[in-house]
Amino acid sequence: MANGLDEVVAAETVLSDVDGLGGRLTIRGHSLADLAGRRSYAQVAHLLLEGFFDDLPEDAGLKESLGHARAEVFERLRPVLGALAALDVYSGMRAGMALLPDGKTLADVLRLIAAPAVLTPALLRMGRGEQPVSPDAQADHAADMLRMLKGDTASPALAKALDTYLVTVCDHGLNASTFATRVVASTQAGLTSAILAGLGALKGPLHGGAPGPVIEMLDAIAESGDAATWLRAEIDCGERIMGFGHRIYRVRDPRADVLKAVVRKLVAAGGAVGRLAFAETVEQAALDVLRVAKPSRSIQTNVEFYTALLLEAAGFPKEAFTNVFAAGRVCGWVAHAREQQLTGRLIRPQSRYVGPLPELVA
Ligand code: COA
Repeated sequence: MANGLDEVVAAETVLSDVDGLGGRLTIRGHSLADLAGRRSYAQVAHLLLEGFFDDLPEDAGLKESLGHARAEVFERLRPVLGALAALDVYSGMRAGMALLPDGKTLADVLRLIAAPAVLTPALLRMGRGEQPVSPDAQADHAADMLRMLKGDTASPALAKALDTYLVTVCDHGLNASTFATRVVASTQAGLTSAILAGLGALKGPLHGGAPGPVIEMLDAIAESGDAATWLRAEIDCGERIMGFGHRIYRVRDPRADVLKAVVRKLVAAGGAVGRLAFAETVEQAALDVLRVAKPSRSIQTNVEFYTALLLEAAGFPKEAFTNVFAAGRVCGWVAHAREQQLTGRLIRPQSRYVGPLPELVA
């Protein structure tokens, strides 16, 4: 039996496909390269939601509807932002999203999709004693998220970088959080409940919680001065190297290359060139160490390694990296939840009992 459901096909989907041997990601018939940097997050959200909601506006209209949803989320949750900001930023976001109704209309769905982009900057600002900034309903989703974080309009290069990130992580087959989302959606519990399940699963360091620890690793290696020795010591202690390895990919995660190119552009436009060069050295050392330590497994760079560098360059603190991941993945979760609901079929696998049997009574 596969403990981690390896190789088990648990859903049919029209949404995305991960080719682990070819290193390809397909999203509704488009390659990742066709979408990332070429279509905006609102356009890709439209692509994912198409066919699942009758009142979906024309392609260009979703940008406006999403902007309106950001403004609504802010107004609805404004009275409780103070209480949410007392939690860590991920728990605060999750608690805020739990307050959004389990509705079925497109407006309900767009509020869920908008919420991480609104709550994350607001809670970060309040955490450092600043006032939250209201959304600008006319702005692009990523640009507005940055504006709400910094209190000022972000440079087009930075806005483009974040937009490309959100698109790159918008959906990725039946990953752990998407599976959790589909399981809850299959009970007909409603979309907010399903998205909360996704948020719960995403948080763990083996899934969307990895990029914060990538920064901690880079900092620790910078301090130690010797990447290979540091990395070998981690593996000898049974630790995993964050930002490497994947259940499906046996080759390099295609999202890592997309994000690396984005980081390269950002640093060329005046960012921390030395940080990228250092990260590349660490990446190579990690690949070498992993090749020797785990010769039977092809462990390659995954999306989280360059996510960490990109979000750091965009000005997010490492404790909020998983929030930003959620801001991208949430539209994939919604589409999967809806797709699962429409099948009308409850997901209910079986376990094999390996515990003691009751004593036979004569
Ligand atoms: N560092 C060290 N060892 C790793 C590793 C890593 N990043 N990733 C996998 N391995 C090792 C496992 O310890 C295991 O070794 P063993 O057989 O000696 O016990 C073996 O490789 C299993 O490989 P695989 O089946 O490919 O891994 P998985 O599917 O169980 O795990 C992850 C996939 C993502 C959970 C795993 O690669 C990991 O923990 N990566 C670090 C966290 C991370 O970056 N997560 C984000 C994923 S996008």
